[in-house]
Amino acid sequence: MIVLGLETSCDETAAALVGPDGELADVTHSQEVHARFGGVVPELAARAHVEKVGAVVAAALDRAGVTRPDAVAATAGPGLIGAVLVGLNYGKALAAGWDVPFLGVNHLEGHLLSPLLEARAPAWPFLALVVSGGHTTLYLCAGLGRYTVLGQTVDDAAGEAFDKVARMLGLGYPGGPLVDRLAAEGDPMAVALPRPLPGDLDWSFSGLKTAVRQHLLSTPRPSDADVCASFQAAVVDCLLQRALAAARRTGVHRIALGGGVAANSGVRAAFAASGLDVYLPPRHRCTDNAAMIAHAGRLHLLAGARDALSLRARPVWSVA
Ligand code: KG4
Ligand code: ZN
Repeated sequence: MIVLGLETSCDETAAALVGPDGELADVTHSQEVHARFGGVVPELAARAHVEKVGAVVAAALDRAGVTRPDAVAATAGPGLIGAVLVGLNYGKALAAGWDVPFLGVNHLEGHLLSPLLEARAPAWPFLALVVSGGHTTLYLCAGLGRYTVLGQTVDDAAGEAFDKVARMLGLGYPGGPLVDRLAAEGDPMAVALPRPLPGDLDWSFSGLKTAVRQHLLSTPRPSDADVCASFQAAVVDCLLQRALAAARRTGVHRIALGGGVAANSGVRAAFAASGLDVYLPPRHRCTDNAAMIAHAGRLHLLAGARDALSLRARPVWSVA
């Protein structure tokens, strides 16, 4: 079964084709219109998706050499409602026109299952850490559609904290990759930052962000590189601490990472050296992409799932 996947939940317009041997084409257009606002502007995102979705889908079909896939899967949420609606409705229209099955996919499940697209994929059960701009959640994945939340952030998502620190430093948007780059030139021990760990296996990143702000107001002010390196090290410590605790608690030592922050150099290095059995998708599959949506959709379609074309977008939608 060859599945066309569409992803438009935030600021990437993406289309991909995935078949039995994996990815056939994966096209992502990152919207640049938001950079000067320092964050994603929902209305502009929706309009930019409308402008690009046709060309992005056409490019993916062309690259894969496919004229009519066997099914269409599109992100139905969570995300910016106007943005989600574009890909969801475009996907429904294509499915109706081609007369093939349609399925709405949960964006978070896309991230969570994306490590299964790789040649070296985790066996069930595995832990999945989804660290993105909107979510920071640790799941126990027992099988397709059988997920339990072990821990999550009680305030900011890790990616959001990266973006806020980047904004404080005036680095630009999206901030994560810029902080990552600058951190490589700094000393992770230079600025003393807390490792806030609230109850159970949860995280809290808003205090860390406030601590960074305080350091930026102190004299002498630490260098931007030292701030980035120290902040990144603190986030990495918190993520790793919870992952190790979850592995101990569940006895499951396989852990898959997904979401934009899983593209972070510090996160990747620390997890690779953690002693856990770590599954890290390549960077372009950590950030938003349509291959993960096509893949998650394909697994459910193969299991018999179908959605009616009346399916609604769900701006808020948890997977567990
Ligand atoms: O998964 P994603 O592309 O979109 C969401 O579903 O949110 O994640 C985007 C988030 C942004 O906050 C971005 O700053 C962060 O991931 N990010 C990074 C890196 N690349 C992207 N954070 C730290 N280091 C990176 N290299
Ligand atoms: Zn995402």
